[in-house]
Amino acid sequence: MALEQSKTLENYFDKIAANYQFMNSLLSLNLDRFWRDKLLKRTRLKEGSFFLDVACGTCDIAQLIEKDYSNRSINVHGVGLDLSFGMLEVAKQNEALGLLVRGNGVSTPFPEASFDLITISFGYRNMPSHQEFLKEAFRLLKPGGQLLVLELTRPKNPVLNFGNTIYLNTILPLVSQFFGRDREAYRYLARSIQAFPHQDEVQLNFEQEGFQSCSYELLNGGITTLFEGSKPV
Ligand SMILES: C[S@@+](CC[C@H](N)C(=O)[O-])C[C@H]1O[C@@H](n2cnc3c(N)ncnc32)[C@H](O)[C@@H]1O
Repeated sequence: MALEQSKTLENYFDKIAANYQFMNSLLSLNLDRFWRDKLLKRTRLKEGSFFLDVACGTCDIAQLIEKDYSNRSINVHGVGLDLSFGMLEVAKQNEALGLLVRGNGVSTPFPEASFDLITISFGYRNMPSHQEFLKEAFRLLKPGGQLLVLELTRPKNPVLNFGNTIYLNTILPLVSQFFGRDREAYRYLARSIQAFPHQDEVQLNFEQEGFQSCSYELLNGGITTLFEGSKPV
């Protein structure tokens, strides 16, 4: 990824960081909570497990996982990694994870086989290269480790896809502008969702990088999809 492109993306997220959580709930009509819960239910961490939340943003997913396991008296250790200082600042203010790292999801500073689980929610499409991200995730996972990717996608049903496209291109930028948010940042969001590959292609990419037991679950007709793969034991 050219440095310029990477800087632009970082700026987009720095701009929306302060109100990211509020806007997320508003613009997804609170569905993001349901989608995050779906990811949580797929996790299979044990006492002392380590997990990495890539493109953690304000750390919503990581906090959800830590809280849920802690409520069940299971200690797990989370690390959050993100490109944007703005997002990490908000995560820090929210007293999110103990360890927050600024970095790029395709080339992280962690040693091989460090994590039992890697999550990435609504950040996979932003990776400069999906293939490079999958390679890095595979390297970082312990044998038997799990990769969970939650991503906004295009619904398979043409009617739903049409409605979703209208929503993303017109209503979403307008509502975000009404709330004084950066309209261009949300336009970028719409473009990146529309450019995102078909679910079967994503699954194929997982398999090409060595992941096994790969599958995906369409959420709300495929407005969002939860992808899963495991590193062989
Ligand atoms: C839409 S937000 C998702 C945040 C969070 N995971 C969530 O569930 O709300 C996308 C995040 O990806 C981060 N990001 C974009 N490109 C990245 C990269 N190459 N490496 C790490 N983080 C990146 C952005 O800074 C932003 O915080």
